[in-house]
Amino acid sequence: DGGEARGGGKGRAFSEQESWEEQQIRKSQLQFGAKDRGHAGDEYELVFDDAVEFVKATAMSGTEPEDEEDELGDEIDAKAMLQRELQDQRKTLPVYKFRDELLKAIAEHQIIIVVGETGSGKTTQIPQYLHEAGYTANGRRIACTQPRRVAAMSVAARVAQEMGVKLGHEVGYSIRFEDCTSEKTAVKYMTDGMLLREFLGEPDLASYGVVIVDEAHERSVSTDILLGLVKDVARFRPDLKLLISSATLNADKLSDFFDMAPVFKIPGRRYKVDIHYTAAPEADYVDAAVATVLQLHVTQPPGGDILLFLTGQEEIETVEEILRRRTRGLGTRIAELVICPIYANLPTELQAKIFEPAPPGARKVVLATNIAETSLTIDGISYVVDTGFCKVKSYSPRTGAESLLVQPISKASAAQRAGRSGRTGPGKCFRLFTEHSYREDMADETVPEIQRSNLASVVLSLKALGVNDLVGFDFVDPPASEALLRALEDLFALGALNSRGELTKTGRRMAELPLDPMLAKAVVASERYGCSEEVLTVASMLSAGNAVFYRPRDRALLADAARQRFSAGGDHVALLNVYTEWEQSGHSAQWCADHFVQPRTMRRARDVREQLAALMERVEIERRSCSSGDLDAVRKAITAGFFRNTAQRRRDGLYRTIKTWRTVLVHPSSGMARLDPPPRWVVYHELVETSNEYMRQVTEIKPEWQLEVAPHYYQENNLDAPEPKKAKAHGQGAAVAVEKQSPSLNGFFNV
Ligand code: CDP
Ligand code: MG
Repeated sequence: DGGEARGGGKGRAFSEQESWEEQQIRKSQLQFGAKDRGHAGDEYELVFDDAVEFVKATAMSGTEPEDEEDELGDEIDAKAMLQRELQDQRKTLPVYKFRDELLKAIAEHQIIIVVGETGSGKTTQIPQYLHEAGYTANGRRIACTQPRRVAAMSVAARVAQEMGVKLGHEVGYSIRFEDCTSEKTAVKYMTDGMLLREFLGEPDLASYGVVIVDEAHERSVSTDILLGLVKDVARFRPDLKLLISSATLNADKLSDFFDMAPVFKIPGRRYKVDIHYTAAPEADYVDAAVATVLQLHVTQPPGGDILLFLTGQEEIETVEEILRRRTRGLGTRIAELVICPIYANLPTELQAKIFEPAPPGARKVVLATNIAETSLTIDGISYVVDTGFCKVKSYSPRTGAESLLVQPISKASAAQRAGRSGRTGPGKCFRLFTEHSYREDMADETVPEIQRSNLASVVLSLKALGVNDLVGFDFVDPPASEALLRALEDLFALGALNSRGELTKTGRRMAELPLDPMLAKAVVASERYGCSEEVLTVASMLSAGNAVFYRPRDRALLADAARQRFSAGGDHVALLNVYTEWEQSGHSAQWCADHFVQPRTMRRARDVREQLAALMERVEIERRSCSSGDLDAVRKAITAGFFRNTAQRRRDGLYRTIKTWRTVLVHPSSGMARLDPPPRWVVYHELVETSNEYMRQVTEIKPEWQLEVAPHYYQENNLDAPEPKKAKAHGQGAAVAVEKQSPSLNGFFNV
């Protein structure tokens, strides 16, 4: 049985370090970004450099005036040609033939389920049809939600190009901390999470005339919650049109959910796909994948691209490196292989590369996560190589731990992946697992995310929307009641809910901040400790991405020393110090280079900070600085959010989490990893699970702070703290905090 052997590549998926090559790529782009940075007051509002670069790379520049007069004519010609080409392409999509029929159905029904194979034109065309048909004439917008940020951005860019407008004008997108829309935006692509947030400000979605919940088959938590909410809104807004779009799966289930809403099927243009299995289980699917790709490239006639499904960024980078090395070794004996990675965190300007056709004679291989399963359509794929794995989020309500694990995909996913090769002609799919394993090890369908996630954030949003009866909420598939209960407990512990399960003032403020509830609480609590400016900075740095420092191999020691200089007070304080010094340097790129800091992350942090600051103002959190020095105030505020993430160092030198008693290590990227002696008590931002469980972003605290920041959660108890198992008492006369019993939660569900 191959189950275990196939997991062989598992360890690779998780390391958090960027590869050197990736760093170099980033750096070179950063310099480009720094020179070309658009600024506030530019014609369109773009929050991140990323977006500016992305637009440059993908979207047409509309009617932008050019400096070079004589080139203008040519340029207009080229644009007109591209426009004609694009319009012709639009007409070849399967959905085009059904344009009028679809519009008629939409006119007749309030809610429609649209089903069509990936690539049939649902996402890019239907919003345009509705726009052309006048659905936006009354000033109302069309919302089209996507479970993935990358999809929202890339699809918006594509549609802007097709409509010949600038991204952010008539067509825009909105994702967390990045709003690329304007007053005149009529077609708005957005993540499902962003529409969920918009409900907070506009519970009837009055600014929208049409809501398209796209990629509904992905069943992300936010999509599932949206489905329940829009169903409700549709009842009291008969003028609102609702389209639920899905790539073939679950259509009946969705139709049932929407009271037997009609299903509009767009027949796919689908060619035959030959499916091949391995004869025996593969010991290492990464090796097998590389071998298969190279073999296909060398043996197959030119002209068909390859799509390889892997589980995550790290794995993709590994495969990219190996493929580059191997093809370099073969030199000119083989045709060129253009390697295009695509995953959620890929710098945006590199994302556009996957859509570009390979140069003549060359073959493209796209290395993708399951983002390419349905959300992104890449033309010209003739071969799919499927490792049969993906990274799946799982959650244990008992321990509160959320982890990403590499697991076998479902049969439904395998079918979707295979189908990617048969869009433009007959395709071939190479499954790197046995047929037996397909039948025996793979579930029919993927479990919806809502049944395997931490729900604290969602529950907080629902409570803020006035949905008190969570059990009675209209879920397509309800989450486990333990997970709901756990979310309620967590929110109670944070002071966001009172013991009757009602939203508190703190909870209301937290809900307005687009942050995880623990981080939101830290921000709200910072007011009390007079350090809201500092905690705002920390929160922005934490939200800006994990890559703050970089570590070139040839200067590793220097880089480590530079990093260590910031780290004395813990990682949160280090983030604060980095940002403050960068600011004092006048946002200098040179300063970043001198200190081995990624300028991209810093600019992003600055943008996030601006937006969070505006939201803080809205919920009236007073902006105050504890000025130079009272770092304890900052650490207390962090503890006020993350007190549940406390770990204590045992005599054997290992840390153990309080409450769940798991052994955890300080992440090697942490400044605290090299501290001697290591602190006794710490809070951490998150646990990362690899071969071990690592705490990332670690800060030293004093145990008595626990009582101060969460008196409703901890109670004082000297020395003989009751411990599970046989562990020895560990206090040294210090007050030891132990957990209070949760209050009766009886009232929670039906308030
Ligand atoms: O949503 P659905 O999977 O039905 O299709 P779509 O995303 O609307 O894609 C339709 C076509 O648009 C694809 O076949 C691509 O040719 C093109 N497209 C593109 O070139 N670039 C994008 N970013 C998105 C779509
Ligand atoms: Mg789509």
